[in-house]
Amino acid sequence: MHEAPRSGSEGAGGIGPGARTATRMASGCLRALVACGVVLALAMGWISCSSLGPRADLSPPSIEGATYVGNQVCLDCHGVYAVAFPANPHARLSLAVPGTSTPATCEACHGPGSLHVAAGGGRGRFILNPSAEPRICLDCHAEVRPEFQLTSRHPVLEGRMSCAACHDPHGMDVTKPAGGLGWARVNETCQGCHPQQARPFVFEHEAVREGCTVCHQPHGSAHRALLTERDSHLCLRCHVQTPGPGVDSGRIFIGQVDHTDRLRMGTCWSAGCHTAVHGSDVHPRLFY
Ligand code: HEC
Ligand code: HEC
Ligand code: HEC
Ligand code: HEC
Ligand code: HEC
Ligand code: HEC
Ligand code: HEC
Repeated sequence: MHEAPRSGSEGAGGIGPGARTATRMASGCLRALVACGVVLALAMGWISCSSLGPRADLSPPSIEGATYVGNQVCLDCHGVYAVAFPANPHARLSLAVPGTSTPATCEACHGPGSLHVAAGGGRGRFILNPSAEPRICLDCHAEVRPEFQLTSRHPVLEGRMSCAACHDPHGMDVTKPAGGLGWARVNETCQGCHPQQARPFVFEHEAVREGCTVCHQPHGSAHRALLTERDSHLCLRCHVQTPGPGVDSGRIFIGQVDHTDRLRMGTCWSAGCHTAVHGSDVHPRLFY
């Protein structure tokens, strides 16, 4: 497993848990400011309504004593993030240096940066890193938090991996991991940590080409192994169940094979059947 453990940026920069109450209070004030900014920006036609997120809240983190400086200041030292970030949905957040129209969207995730800048930058110095603190993402994306609390889940809240393991926070498409293309990118990300399931097989299962997420919930699931369905319905979405022909009309066929008795034995992949769901090196019907 390649995990992404991070030392917290709390502490060294004086941004401790005590700052959380301040965070809440400050974000309340900030929200009021942002609201005014939004109204103003809309009136001036700077941003379109579609730039306002319908599903996520705007609850950016705060850092005690720090104020917003705007993206350009960050990019003076971290210029590499200027390349793709403008296409990222977070670049459209209506977050600006208060009283101005200067975008401060880097600080939506990293917290206001004035103290970090005054200190000349530095790791763990008055700046937050959501890699170590997923609550930063979850304060805005409250709708996904419960998924990380389900019985089967990726251990993000446990600090064993970060949202950035699968999401490119500065890239053009935040729903995909960094680098690569389309579904391949999603599978590649998973492959980094689960090479056994994503490796090439002699007899591949074409379902995997559509992406690991056709069968797995990426964040968490109430079913074992992050599955989207707990039983054979997982497979029957693609492998149609048909009644047999003629005298076999009372029987259930899948892929032209009579499965009536087999289906009573358990799921398609348990009960010693298609156990090699990700692909097989020995049998085209996905047996081990
Ligand atoms: C200040 C609030 C805020 C923070 C912090 C924040 N987001 Fe977002 N995020 C948004 C908004 C608003 C949108 C766009 C609205 C929407 O589509 O839901 C968005 C969009 C997204 C999307 C695309 C959603 C979609 O359906 O296309 C992903 C994925 C995402 N954010 C992940 C993250 C991750 C991971 C983090 C932490 C590293 C994070 N966000 C931090 C507010 C935030
Ligand atoms: C004066 C130059 C400078 C400016 C301006 C600056 N930084 Fe930095 N920042 C640095 C340096 C240097 C590091 C340490 C990098 C390293 O060790 O690789 C750093 C580190 C960071 C880190 C990593 C922190 C960690 O603990 O993991 C983040 C996040 C960050 N900066 C965000 C920002 C943001 C957001 C802004 C704008 C508000 C900003 N920086 C402005 C110089 C700067
Ligand atoms: C959606 C939230 C989000 C936004 C917006 C965002 N970042 Fe980040 N940033 C992250 C996350 C998450 C990480 C940790 C990435 C990782 O661990 O791979 C990070 C890491 C960093 C780092 C440290 C990289 C390192 O070497 O560890 C710097 C510097 C940084 N961001 C600067 C910026 C700048 C500049 C902007 C604006 C152009 C910005 N970020 C916007 C979420 C965000
Ligand atoms: C194991 C990989 C993985 C991790 C870790 C992960 N995500 Fe995702 N996330 C995905 C994938 C893949 C999708 C796209 C799902 C789809 O397109 O059906 C997604 C979709 C999303 C979306 C938009 C769709 C939705 O479900 O509302 C948001 C917002 C989001 N993730 C936020 C987060 C946050 C916040 C974290 C960290 C707390 C996180 N994710 C951690 C893989 C991951
Ligand atoms: C940064 C590493 C990492 C990435 C990337 C990652 N995972 Fe995981 N995955 C883990 C860890 C850690 C666990 C928990 C294992 C444990 O608790 O023993 C896990 C658990 C799982 C499980 C449950 C395993 C079980 O035995 O119950 C499935 C299924 C899974 N991941 C699928 C995926 C998919 C699909 C993706 C891509 C969207 C993905 N993972 C991306 C690290 C990762
Ligand atoms: C056709 C559906 C399907 C697809 C596609 C799929 N999986 Fe699975 N996966 C399953 C089933 C079913 C299990 C077995 C769950 C159980 O043991 O109860 C499983 C189990 C796992 C496990 C737990 C360990 C194991 O092998 O039992 C991991 C990790 C995993 N899958 C990762 C992935 C990754 C990574 C991808 C993409 C490359 C992927 N899966 C694509 C159906 C699928
Ligand atoms: C996203 C669609 C999809 C899902 C979900 C899916 N499959 Fe498949 N499966 C395919 C495709 C496409 C093929 C190759 C064409 C064919 O043989 O039907 C295939 C082939 C197979 C084969 C080989 C068939 C043969 O005759 O050679 C088996 C066995 C199989 N799948 C079992 C499963 C099992 C078990 C599950 C559930 C864990 C599952 N499939 C879920 C799409 C899917």
